[in-house]
Amino acid sequence: MTISMPAERIVILTGAGLSAESGLGTFRDKDGLWTRYDLNEVATPEGFARNPALVHEFYNARRTNCLEAQPNPAHEALARLQRAWPERVTLITQNVDDLLERAGALEVIHMHGELTRALCAACGHRWDAPRQMDPQAPCPACGRAATRPDIVWFGEYPYHMEAIDTALRAADLFVAIGTSGNVYPAAGFVQEAATSGARTLELNLEPSATASLFDAARFGPASQIVPHWVAELLE
Ligand code: APR
Repeated sequence: MTISMPAERIVILTGAGLSAESGLGTFRDKDGLWTRYDLNEVATPEGFARNPALVHEFYNARRTNCLEAQPNPAHEALARLQRAWPERVTLITQNVDDLLERAGALEVIHMHGELTRALCAACGHRWDAPRQMDPQAPCPACGRAATRPDIVWFGEYPYHMEAIDTALRAADLFVAIGTSGNVYPAAGFVQEAATSGARTLELNLEPSATASLFDAARFGPASQIVPHWVAELLE
């Protein structure tokens, strides 16, 4: 079965490996974020309740890295694909950076939230995050000092799951790019798509934890294998 056969509806899930070559690092590789920070302290509601200043410090540093980073050829290739086939390409990301948008993507589904957005833990108001967030800063809507990064933490339910499930059920081709397949529900999307009849392809530096569930795979740095795959589709 050739994966680059033109597919009507393509659903793409991306992970930290897509932005690794933009310098944003990953979570579980050598020197990954979770090897340097305790995710229970900085990526759970309990950690935020215990020490909101530490959590804001962690995301302020990631937000600065993100704003200083540039999209890489993989982001640009996915944006090119979605602009060429806007009705056929669904971009879902676990990443909280805005590099796909800055590469020109038309619509990105951020299932784990976005560094560029802030959320009020008291009233649910959302707004564009300042470069540096401060736990004492009042919510623009309700005035209470309950601001948090608009990021989905462990133990919280990912965003846009209805839209994602609808897209997976309709997919002809599901492609996972630069994700280790360790975190659910994202790690289960390949099975959901395959059950609905989609062909499945993994693009990664090395086989992920769910590699055996994919029909096909290509290995190498995203900045090389993603533009190559997109060029095959578009030619
Ligand atoms: N090109 C392609 N893939 C790469 C590259 C690269 N240059 N560098 C690393 N990778 C791959 C690794 O092989 C691995 O499969 O990226 C993946 C990174 O895995 P993780 O660090 O686990 O990142 P991810 O899968 O996105 O994590 C999922 O876990 O901590 C939570 O919310 C966080 O969204 C994150 C989720």
